[in-house]
Amino acid sequence: MSEFTEQGWSLLSTMMRRLPPSEATGLRTGARHRLAQLYGPADLVVLGLGVTIGAGIFSIAGTQAATTAGPGVLLSFMIAGIACLLSALCYAELSSTMPTSGTAYTFAYVIFGEVWAWIIGWALLLELQLAAAVVARVWAIYAAQFLTDFGIRLPYPEVFSDGFALFILVLLTAIVSLGAHIGLRALWVIVGAKLLAILAVLVVGAFHIKAANFGNFFVEARPSPTPPDTVLEVILGQSQTFGWFGVFAAASAISFAYIGFDLVTTAAEETVNARRAVPKGVIRSLVIATVIYLGVAIVMIGMVPYTRISTDAPLAGAFRTAGVDWMVHVIDIGAVLGLTTVILVLLVGQTRVMFAMARDGLLPRGLATISRRFHTPSRVTWVIGGIAMLMAQFVPVFTLQELVVLGALFAYLFVAIGVIMMRRRLPDLERGFTVPLSPWLPGLSIVATVWLMVNLRALTWGWFALWMAVGLLVYLLYGKRHSVLAAQVKGRGRHRR
Ligand code: ALA
Repeated sequence: MSEFTEQGWSLLSTMMRRLPPSEATGLRTGARHRLAQLYGPADLVVLGLGVTIGAGIFSIAGTQAATTAGPGVLLSFMIAGIACLLSALCYAELSSTMPTSGTAYTFAYVIFGEVWAWIIGWALLLELQLAAAVVARVWAIYAAQFLTDFGIRLPYPEVFSDGFALFILVLLTAIVSLGAHIGLRALWVIVGAKLLAILAVLVVGAFHIKAANFGNFFVEARPSPTPPDTVLEVILGQSQTFGWFGVFAAASAISFAYIGFDLVTTAAEETVNARRAVPKGVIRSLVIATVIYLGVAIVMIGMVPYTRISTDAPLAGAFRTAGVDWMVHVIDIGAVLGLTTVILVLLVGQTRVMFAMARDGLLPRGLATISRRFHTPSRVTWVIGGIAMLMAQFVPVFTLQELVVLGALFAYLFVAIGVIMMRRRLPDLERGFTVPLSPWLPGLSIVATVWLMVNLRALTWGWFALWMAVGLLVYLLYGKRHSVLAAQVKGRGRHRR
């Protein structure tokens, strides 16, 4: 074999090296790197609802009904909910087998090998980092709206908007870095308040529903006013809205609203009796979120004919049309609170994933330290918070928003494939939860996820490919050389000789 080929094989075998499952929970690196356990089953549900119910709830049902699916958007919510539930079952099985803060990244390290783990970790970093910046910007919009609704005029709206986004990120980064207990207490209170606001929307809205608005449930399909831009449309060479096609296409956009159930699994290392508690936390929070989303969508569609929904602030607009102006304030307050917890949990989840990657040496190991004073990974928290602050100020995050969905779906895909492969390769591992009807349900999860992915814009795929190419380069230049696992294996090999 030529030296060149030999080097190629050696590179490939390093990159495909798999983490032993027994080491997936980080015990290998010792107590300095271990996170304290504090979450119980109810905390996980709050965590899940905290991050899932956010920007999506007050706007997605309305905008998708008006532009893509009509009243059939209710079915789109069900389709996206079922797709996410299939994925949640897969997450539940893998995190009950490997309760680790690295979630899909660590699962991939055990099942597929190092380079795949890096790729998924890199996609998660994009998803969570960008999501935190996007939601901070939406938070700034609602905070400004909230003040305006109460008669406070802001002199320089642009400057205030930038300032609000910075303010919320600094505040929440500080809370996350100061201690998980403070963050958890704040989370319970704010999630409770946001659920009350949503309850008000459901109860008050229910009195203004008109059955006639559900009449034309499946709006006849028509050519889209925009040229084909999703991967599917480009493949088909045409674009349509409404009809069945619209109902399915809306499900992809709606999956943004469901993002977050997967983040419950990043709390696995900090959960008491994680093997049983995490699967319950993931599934329960998703089911509750789905019911809430359907409720809000029914109110939205029932209050205004889909042709008259305002795409700017659909739900607030519906209450205005119904003459219930005070509900607009409730929605503003609910949005500010709701978005606060989304950012909080995104930051927590992101720190846990980056912490796990640094602990394995694929990112600088200094990031995987726990502060002796606050007992949290505060260093990595400030790095992540800092990047989110910069992104929220200097990157056109709304233009790139769809990347959040693609990054999340990419991880869902690997988790579903992972369940099937893990059952074959490591059938005897202890599982606190198993996906029923495997491999059929994980297989269905793969199909559903791919469907949602191909309904995203081709341009988003282009950005994603670019991000991945950069990631691969970073891995070759840094991660491959500093991998703790690679060093261990090399050490063992030397020992044997
Ligand atoms: N699901 C989260 C939201 O809707 C990301 O804001």
